Amino acid sequence: MDLNELSKRPPFLHSDRFGNLTSSWGASSRLLKFLDSCLQDGQVTLETGAGISTILFAMKGCRHTAIVPDQAQVTRIRSWCEEKGISLEHVNFIIEKSEDALPKLEFSTPIDVYLIDGAHGFPMPFIDWYYGIRNMRVGGLLFVDDVQIWTGLVLRRFLAQEPNWEIVHSESIEFFAARLNAQPVASEWNQQPFVLHNSLTQSSTSFIRKAVGYGLVGIHAGSSVVNLARQRDWAELRRRSKAVRQSGSLG
Ligand SMILES: C[S@@+](CC[C@H](N)C(=O)[O-])C[C@H]1O[C@@H](n2cnc3c(N)ncnc32)[C@H](O)[C@@H]1O
Repeated sequence: MDLNELSKRPPFLHSDRFGNLTSSWGASSRLLKFLDSCLQDGQVTLETGAGISTILFAMKGCRHTAIVPDQAQVTRIRSWCEEKGISLEHVNFIIEKSEDALPKLEFSTPIDVYLIDGAHGFPMPFIDWYYGIRNMRVGGLLFVDDVQIWTGLVLRRFLAQEPNWEIVHSESIEFFAARLNAQPVASEWNQQPFVLHNSLTQSSTSFIRKAVGYGLVGIHAGSSVVNLARQRDWAELRRRSKAVRQSGSLG
């Protein structure tokens, strides 16, 4: 079986909110096609969530780990693969929520390809990203599905501006793929271009937010002066105005 056949007749692995089995929650054919072009036999791979993508990882001969809390879904994947003669010998299912499993998970061989497609609510994709990429090799590929959901979109916008990541493929309202070009480092907010740009501070790289940042400092300064004047704390007021003259900040 190849990807064409899998996409033509996708298995019904997911259950919708009425409990009916469906194939429409699987990764899109565009994502599967791009993933298929990147995967190689023997690669170490990881995904959060499971489904049609898991079958593709198995068909490509990857040493794959899928983290998914739904045992019934895994049973459906197993029986479909058995019926079609697809080996799951190198697939390791971890039946747990990814936010619980990933912080404990360590890989002896670094991950080549990582697909985030588990829970999409805040902050799950960020947790999956943060803990999962600790095990990725430099040069490895990260896929994030469902960029039409705000969490996935924020992750794409954030990584697009991070110097150690490079977006290598993006389907605007579907998914993106990014390459890890250097070891990830935990930076403070003002060293992260995306966070800095979107923050209402004097150091924002957005002209409008920087202006608002200065405005907020002005409002804060004004209300401090009013409070000190109300309390008749003239000594403190003098100290602060001296600090403003010297450093431009209220101190
Ligand atoms: C959109 S589906 C994944 C589709 C899959 N990539 C495919 O191609 O069929 C979302 C998956 O995330 C799983 N999931 C839900 N909550 C999760 C969590 N907290 N951690 C990991 N997986 C979760 C669901 O059971 C489901 O398998």
